[in-house]
Amino acid sequence: MILNGRKVAKEVLIGLKEKIQKSVEKPTLAVIIVGSNPSSISYVNRKVVKCEEVGINSMLIELAEDVSEKKLLSIIEDLNNKKDVDGILVQLPLPKHINPLKVTETISYKKDVDGFHPINMGKLLLGYTDGFIPCTPLGIKTLLDNFDIPLAKKHVVIVGRSNIVGKPLAAMLIQRKTNATITIAHSYTQDLKSITKTADILVASVGRPNFITADMVKDGSVVIDVGINKIVGTNHISKIVGDVDFENVSKKASFITPVPGGVGPMTIASLMQNTFKSFQER
Ligand SMILES: NC(=O)c1ccc[n+]([C@@H]2O[C@H](COP(=O)([O-])OP(=O)(O)OC[C@H]3O[C@@H](n4cnc5c(N)ncnc54)[C@H](OP(=O)(O)O)[C@@H]3O)[C@@H](O)[C@H]2O)c1
Repeated sequence: MILNGRKVAKEVLIGLKEKIQKSVEKPTLAVIIVGSNPSSISYVNRKVVKCEEVGINSMLIELAEDVSEKKLLSIIEDLNNKKDVDGILVQLPLPKHINPLKVTETISYKKDVDGFHPINMGKLLLGYTDGFIPCTPLGIKTLLDNFDIPLAKKHVVIVGRSNIVGKPLAAMLIQRKTNATITIAHSYTQDLKSITKTADILVASVGRPNFITADMVKDGSVVIDVGINKIVGTNHISKIVGDVDFENVSKKASFITPVPGGVGPMTIASLMQNTFKSFQER
């Protein structure tokens, strides 16, 4: 069965829109983009469009590729101090002369709707529920819950240990409320296949097209594909594929996310949810 993220995200956004319509004031999300990386521009535009759809004000701040780190940090500080700005997001990756960790730490943890601030990461690990959870892990959890896929007692194998997906997803699913058993694999993991084959739920966040093949997957497992990879097809037209060999893995999996239309839309929906959460706590 296909885990249709587009459909679930739409339902989440409709619910949010109804709540926002009922309030006099509107939430505001500030989105900062540095430079003109085409993928970043496309991600940012998608976020701005979703804001409009649900009734969140978006404030798009476009900065030149050579903007100084000092200037960027001072813009963030200004936004931190603005009462009517609920969320601040700086699109990654940043140019090499800007330290992304400094940027993440400068955003007020109370407006950190991406959930990357060390305080929010710490809260997630400790099981506090008042912090912001990074959007992709939150979106994956919402998707699994929506299809009533149980997590308690299940073995979740996450391939990829990034700070934005693998680590926070593991931190979220290992909590007492969820009670999954987690294994995180990475590029130094030995005999990956023997581990992935034991997964009841397999999450791939690697960034390599068709990395997870059918022989790496247990029959009846749930497969979540986070990867977004641009490849050029035999017809010379580029297309987006995930990290999972969808055609063959889908024959073995009980549930699987497509790419596009799986985790991606859920990530944006979670960003909208986090912005609304911040607005409610204004
Ligand atoms: N759908 C969405 O909303 C969304 C959100 C975020 C990211 N993404 C996509 O997801 C993909 C991964 O991004 P990310 O930021 O999570 O990760 P990342 O920072 O790109 O890192 C990739 C991870 O994969 C691991 N890896 C690489 N080769 C491996 C191998 N041969 N065996 C096992 N592990 C291996 C790396 O291990 P090491 O740590 O050892 O290097 C690393 O932990 C990308 O395609 C990205 O565009 C999608």
